[in-house]
Formats: sequence, C-alpha cells, structure tokens
Amino acid sequence: MKRLLLVLSLSLLGWAQPAHHGGSHHDFKDVPRWVEAFEEKSRDAWQKPVEVVEYLGLQPGQVVADLGAASGYFSRPLARAVGPNGWVFAVEVEAGFFPPLHQLAAKAGVHNIATVLASFDDPHLPDASIDVVFICDTLHHIEGRPAYYARLKQALKPNGRIVVVDFFPDRDIPVGPKKSERLSVEQVTRELQAAGLRVSQNLTLLPYQYILVGER
Ligand SMILES: C[S@@+](CC[C@H](N)C(=O)[O-])C[C@H]1O[C@@H](n2cnc3c(N)ncnc32)[C@H](O)[C@@H]1O
Repeated sequence: MKRLLLVLSLSLLGWAQPAHHGGSHHDFKDVPRWVEAFEEKSRDAWQKPVEVVEYLGLQPGQVVADLGAASGYFSRPLARAVGPNGWVFAVEVEAGFFPPLHQLAAKAGVHNIATVLASFDDPHLPDASIDVVFICDTLHHIEGRPAYYARLKQALKPNGRIVVVDFFPDRDIPVGPKKSERLSVEQVTRELQAAGLRVSQNLTLLPYQYILVGER
C-alpha cells in the first residue's frame, strides 16, 4: 500500500509519468510542474546528488556543462564542487527553466552557474572549454546521438569526460521514464566507445541508475 501511494504521488509529480517519450519532442513547457518534480525532496534519497558529484572527483576551477539542467538540481552541487573559480554551464533547450534555476541557485548561495540556451542538436558550447559534460536523465531525449557526441567531444578539453547518469531499463523502478524509453548500460557504452571515448562504469552507487564515464 505504501509503495502504491509512493508511485501515485511520484506519478502526480511527473517522475513516473506516462508521456515521457524519447527523442527531441518531449514537452517540458509546464515548467512549474517539472521544477516541483525535479526538486522533490524525496529524490535525494535515491538520486544521492552529493555522492554522485563526489564520485566525479571534480577539481576547484574546473568547468562543467550540466546538459538538460532543468531546475539545476545537479547544477548546484556541481557548482559547489568546482568552487568560486570554476563554472557550471546549465545547458537547456527550454528557456523557461532559467528563472527558477537562477532563483534556486541564489537561494542556495551558489553564484557560479551560467545558463546556456541550446538547440536540440547542438549544446552551443565553446570548443575545448569543458572538463566534464554531465548528463542526467536527458540522453534518451537526444536524437542523432552520434553527431551529438561529436559536438560534445569538440567542446571537451583534451582530458575531458562525458558522464551519463540514467535509469536501468531492466529494473522495476518507481520513478523515471517508461522501461521502453530507457537506454541500457550496453547501448550507452557502445555509443560512447564509438565516439572514441574510454568508458568506465559504476553500477552500484545508485539504486535506480547507472553512471558511465567516457574519457577523451
Ligand atoms: C528529465 S529532465 C532532466 C533534468 C535534470 N538533468 C535533472 O536531473 O534534474 C530532461 C531535461 O533535458 C532537457 N533537454 C531535452 N533535450 C535536450 C537537448 N537536446 N539539449 C539540452 N537539453 C535538453 C529538457 O528540456 C529537460 O529539462
């Protein structure tokens, strides 16, 4: 019963919603609803943002792109990790997220996040400028990924990394997109390798999601 109530409330908040389809056409225009869903307090228990960012081993002064940043749920801990001399580019196709993202960051005392309005096929990041491209629950929205990885690689510094955090497709999980829309560890690994990156994985830090790191 408790689990049913949890799934129902997460559904209402949008995490377990049925309209979550792949590709670039998913609609995040109802920004207040999505901000509420992404910032839902209970998310911390399974998303473990502090542990995930610690795992990345970011250095002060580094530059991170949070691709598909939405409310900036991850942009804030990423920005804290790179410190006042570093930057996080919060990259989004939906500009409606930028005001709440800035408000939530200011409320948290975080001032080193810059927003970048992307297009669906281009993150609009400067060449050789980024240490880590961080992609949480966004990769499956991107169509034409081989060409997109090439653009991301162009934006990476020589030792830069692409980090993908996404839902296991083969687990019963009360949050996230439908199983059929999730990307498997094997598929994302193959894609990152085909893009010329060396891939390492962490399948145990998070209960619902894998972490894949592709290094240049
Ligand atoms: C499920 S949300 C993930 C939000 C955030 N990463 C988090 O973990 O809270 C996916 C976000 O990716 C954005 N998005 C979708 N396609 C994108 C693209 N091609 N480039 C940048 N952002 C994109 C959507 O507008 C949406 O805000």
